[in-house]
Amino acid sequence: MNALAAHNLTFAYPGGKALFSNLSLCLNQGECVALTGPSGCGKSTLCYLLAGIIPRNIDGEFTGQALVFGRPVNEIPLNELVQQLGIVLQIPDSQLFSPTVEDELAFGPENLCLSRQEMRERIDEALALVGMEEYRLAHPDRLSGGQKQLIALAAVLTLKPQILIFDEALSQLDDEATARVKTVIADLKKQGKTILMVEHDPDNLDIADRIYSFENGFLKEAGL
Ligand SMILES: Nc1ncnc2c1ncn2[C@@H]1O[C@H](COP(=O)(O)OP(=O)(O)OP(=O)(O)O)[C@@H](O)[C@H]1O
Ligand SMILES: [Mg+2]
Repeated sequence: MNALAAHNLTFAYPGGKALFSNLSLCLNQGECVALTGPSGCGKSTLCYLLAGIIPRNIDGEFTGQALVFGRPVNEIPLNELVQQLGIVLQIPDSQLFSPTVEDELAFGPENLCLSRQEMRERIDEALALVGMEEYRLAHPDRLSGGQKQLIALAAVLTLKPQILIFDEALSQLDDEATARVKTVIADLKKQGKTILMVEHDPDNLDIADRIYSFENGFLKEAGL
C-alpha cells in the first residue's frame, strides 16, 4: 500500500481555472520524494490537498482523492491524522501561534492527552533534533524566519507522524541549520517514515530517492 497518494486530482481555487487535472502521485512507505517546479505552478496547493488542509482550512473545487495509507485524507479524524501526517508549511508564521516555543511544542501532545512525562520527553527530543534547546522560552515572533521553520518542524516532530511534508522548509535556513534538518530527514527515512519535500535548491535534492518536476499542471519524474 502507498503511504501517500494523489489519485486523479483536479483542482481549482474558487472562481479560478484548473491548476492541474487528473494528477496522480504515489509515495511508498519509507521513500523520500522531492517536488520541484516554477513559482506558482501549484506545489503548495498539492501539499495542502495531500495534507487535507484543502478543503479543511482552504477552499477549493476538486475531484479525485488524496489518500493517506489508502484512506481518503478528509475522512480521517484530525486527532488521528496529525499522528499519521505532519506538514511544515512554506511560511512558518502561519503555523506558529503560541506565546513561547515550549507552548508551541506542547500544543499537539496536549491535544493527544499524553502524560506530562511523555510530553516533556517529546518536546526535549524535538528541540534537540532541530538544535533549538536554548530557545525554549523564547517568543516565536522574535525568532528569525529560519528559526521559525525549525520550530514548526519541531512542533510536527512532537506528534511523531509516519508521513512528513516539507513545503520549502529549508528555504530560510542557513548552511548549518540546513545540514541539521537534512540529517533529521535522513534519520526519519531510516526510521521508515515517508517524506515529500518541495525543494528548489539542487544541493538539497541529494536526500531524495525520486524527484518530480511539476510544470503547467503536469508532474514528470526527473532523473537524479
Ligand atoms: N488561496 C488561494 N486562492 C486563490 N489562488 C491561490 C490561492 N493560493 C494560491 N493561489 C494561486 O494558485 C497558484 C498556485 O499557487 P501555489 O502556492 O500552490 O504555487 P507554488 O508552486 O507553491 O509556488 P511557490 O514556488 O511560489 O511557492 C498561484 O497562481 C497562486 O497565486
Ligand atoms: Mg509554494
